[in-house]
Amino acid sequence: MDGVTVIDHPLVQHKLTLMRKKETSTASFRRLLREISTLLCYEVTRELDLTTMRIETPMEEMDAPILEGKKLVFASILRAGNGLLEGMLDLVPAARVAHIGLYRDHETLQPVEYYFKAPEDLENRLIIVVDPMLATANSASAAMTKLKERGARNIRFLCLLAAPEGIERFRSAHPDIPIFTASIDARLNERGYIVPGLGDAGDRMYGTK
Ligand code: PRP
Ligand code: URA
Repeated sequence: MDGVTVIDHPLVQHKLTLMRKKETSTASFRRLLREISTLLCYEVTRELDLTTMRIETPMEEMDAPILEGKKLVFASILRAGNGLLEGMLDLVPAARVAHIGLYRDHETLQPVEYYFKAPEDLENRLIIVVDPMLATANSASAAMTKLKERGARNIRFLCLLAAPEGIERFRSAHPDIPIFTASIDARLNERGYIVPGLGDAGDRMYGTK
């Protein structure tokens, strides 16, 4: 599918299966999400540009590779995005962080915004937006619009599960933003949940209902 990368690494797929199981406890779900997020982070940052810096090893001088450009921004769509954020920060501890507070109204499936805080200078940075679930894509699309209004120009979206309906809607609203996901599931059900899915990601992470 154009603009969509499925991260099919065996460890990602194995951990995702454990997360999907309904008997997986809150503690295990949270730990697996953190583990999987480091693997997803590795893939979503694979194409980053490098430059070199002159360093001295104990043996001699060399031009050694380092990341080019300004620090990355990880943007978490609250609440469930925070489960992906933690593992990403384990790998890229110097990243800047944006928080986008959105929840889905259960009746209308429309996103309700309650918080937004992002670094000032989004224009010249790569922004990786994280949320485990892309269902109708209403939440993710609203988050992208908000980031673009604040100047963001170079965005990637990273999730764990995506519904085909959500991918289509997201790509038509934001064709410039590539999607990275561990799975494209079968469909959305009548209540806007991804099936087979894993249930409500936020509730499973935090033990709420
Ligand atoms: C979930 C999920 C996404 C959204 C996806 O969040 O984490 O943000 O739903 O659904 P959509 O693609 O149809 O918009 P939720 O609204 O349950 O909030 P939470 O993370 O606070 O639990
Ligand atoms: N949000 C979730 O957490 N799960 C879904 O299946 C859909 C939206």
